[in-house]
Amino acid sequence: MVLLRLLLACAIVPLAHAADPSPAPAPLPAKLVIGHRGASALRPEHTLGSYTKAIEDGADVIEPDLVISKDGTLVVRHENEIGGTTDVASRPEFAARKTTKTIDGQAVTGWFAEDFTLAELKTLRATERIPANRPANTQYNGRYEIPTLQEVIDLARRKTAETGRTIAIYPETKHPSYFKAIGLPLEKRLVEALHANGYRGRKAPVFIQSFEPGSLKEMRIMTDLPMVQLMTSKGQPEDWRLAGDKRGYAEMATPEGLREVASYADGIGPTKEMVIPRDASKNLGTPTALVRDAHAAKLLVHPYTFRPENPFLPMNLRGSEPASPSQRGDLMAELKAYLDAGIDGFFTDDPGVGRAAMDAYGMKQ
Ligand code: G3P
Ligand code: CA
Repeated sequence: MVLLRLLLACAIVPLAHAADPSPAPAPLPAKLVIGHRGASALRPEHTLGSYTKAIEDGADVIEPDLVISKDGTLVVRHENEIGGTTDVASRPEFAARKTTKTIDGQAVTGWFAEDFTLAELKTLRATERIPANRPANTQYNGRYEIPTLQEVIDLARRKTAETGRTIAIYPETKHPSYFKAIGLPLEKRLVEALHANGYRGRKAPVFIQSFEPGSLKEMRIMTDLPMVQLMTSKGQPEDWRLAGDKRGYAEMATPEGLREVASYADGIGPTKEMVIPRDASKNLGTPTALVRDAHAAKLLVHPYTFRPENPFLPMNLRGSEPASPSQRGDLMAELKAYLDAGIDGFFTDDPGVGRAAMDAYGMKQ
């Protein structure tokens, strides 16, 4: 474990442009606070406001999920359906764009990023996705645009220069098989954008992530940038389903499956329950062998998603009103249990709490 940490500390060094005379910023820490969709517990997700707050609160990494505009620009949304996180439904000029599509085998009704040009997307404003859990975030409805990947990269680089801390990015290809099928593949655009911005090599401050191994393997041919295979406790990757492959994430998470992942990726991003399941009382149970098995395959482990509100916490770490959807509980205690289980970082919607937990654990920036 000590050797692994040393290797990780040495492996992650900051982005540097050959032509950039500014001093190299600090290396990334060995264990990472990843701002999930920014600081999405405190600002509408996937906005520059959310990413800025995440960095101010101590995130080492900010996470943009990627979809694409009609004219081929990578933009930052968790879903290509944008009715849930923007004001598009209130825009009469776009009423006729509402439609139903099949995305990864599921019928979805709404407005879709790929049916809008970038200029049209830029007229929209972000809204809070889960106002019942995050009522305070609605005060920011209407303030922020949908960012492009380039704007997130620019923010990370500017904040790296301002703070002297390396702010890494963690872009995710969303629904990559779907986008390939409609003629708007994400992979080449993402790799070219990263390379054009100076992200090169296994030590660059970026982690490319995807639920679909085919998306990562395709990019592995184009780049040696760090990659992370996402997984869930149920189901299977969409590209495996489309190929008729009967295996699922359960097989991917076995020692044999992890060795296969290690042939193209540098880490895994499992659900937090795959690392520490809940017991019959919905409290934290006993850690699984996943961290040990992943480390044996030389894979980092970055579980998701650590959220401060009661519904997302183990029962015994919820606040005084366990049924409240918006009350905050003891996220610090949950994170400590996971750090004790040996993880190498975590995706959290509240990077300020994540930073405090990491500092308390003894992992300074
Ligand atoms: O990428 C880590 C985590 O974000 C995966 O889940 O659905 O929040 O993108 P999701
Ligand atoms: Ca994500």
